Amino acid sequence: MDVTQIKDMARKMAAGATEMRRFLHARPEVSWQEVETSRFIASKLEEIGFKDVKIGTDGKPVGVVADLKGKKDGPLIALRSDIDALSLTEEGDLPYKSQSGGAAHACGHDGHITMLLHTAKLLYSIKDELAGSVRFIFQPAEEKGDRSGAPAMVREGVLDGVSAIAGMHLWAHVSSGKVQWRAGPVMASVDGWKVKFTGKGGHGAMPQNAVDPTVTSANFILALQTIVSREINPLETGVISVGKLVSGDVINIIPESAEMIGNIRTFNPDVRDKMEAGFRRVADGIAATYRCGAEIEYTTLYPPVINDRALAELLRDTAVQVVGEDNVEESPMLMTSEDFSFYQKKVPGVFFFLGSGDEAKGTTVPHHSPRFNIDDDVLPTGIALMSSFACAALERR
Ligand code: NI
Repeated sequence: MDVTQIKDMARKMAAGATEMRRFLHARPEVSWQEVETSRFIASKLEEIGFKDVKIGTDGKPVGVVADLKGKKDGPLIALRSDIDALSLTEEGDLPYKSQSGGAAHACGHDGHITMLLHTAKLLYSIKDELAGSVRFIFQPAEEKGDRSGAPAMVREGVLDGVSAIAGMHLWAHVSSGKVQWRAGPVMASVDGWKVKFTGKGGHGAMPQNAVDPTVTSANFILALQTIVSREINPLETGVISVGKLVSGDVINIIPESAEMIGNIRTFNPDVRDKMEAGFRRVADGIAATYRCGAEIEYTTLYPPVINDRALAELLRDTAVQVVGEDNVEESPMLMTSEDFSFYQKKVPGVFFFLGSGDEAKGTTVPHHSPRFNIDDDVLPTGIALMSSFACAALERR
């Protein structure tokens, strides 16, 4: 299928796409509660003509999967959109502002749903020309961390028979309409940790009778930073951050215990193992040095997003045709994370970014902030991009 024709078809979808995106924006649902969103997606797919539209993930009525079989034989590829909103109160006065207090589409997943549904519509209309099949995956709970949607869908067989997968994220940090791609590592792994140091509470005037978990924590926080600076090869990448520290609450009492939580991110699985081991050793070692006990919890969250080189280059070539050479650039490596990586552990995949930042439209506000919004004018670009990439991936041999 010719990219110019696909672009024309996508352009004609602009008004409908904007309307749908704003409809979804006003009706956000957080992770594992995307019941109405899933129903909406399924009904739109059925309207288009899809049969056997499946709703449900991990026993909940959320997440939608549907297959489009092309007329000609060929491989099965998958396109994925996440569908959840964040627990956040939207600020500002958009006419299509969130109607659900405490939930907001503050990451652009409303745009992802819209673009994938329109891609499904576009590809359905040219299914006689498709050399293979396309699976559309609308995944719940991307934001959920320790219980996110991708591994559950993978466990339930969403990738059975799939030879390649693509995912796209709208990106406020990149100018509207530009596409960022990258081969190899793109986004970091993330793990969460918790430490509780227990000492012996006492009077602030008599430290000799107490065992102070706060001073222990202070030393721990500093020592923790030497894992990255002194144990990891400087040419590798890693970060350890403390997200919360709770210890005592009055001026003259040494508390009994102190608790911290934080995260660890890197790209390389060996570095990841090394950082976890270092983290445990430093926590135990500092606790012993300062006579405290240490309780450690370590939770492995998302693997790194690592793009297949051949698919990434195919994406880049497709993007050049859709938005022009000047609007395609290499993405930097990002220390943020995405559960798209769970699909990539099973099949080759590519995850890329579509810029939606436009100062004049107020869409350069960072993701996950209460005034986040996307530039609806890039929706047709995303539809053309996903559709063209699907055709290119099916045709490559
Ligand atoms: Ni997101």
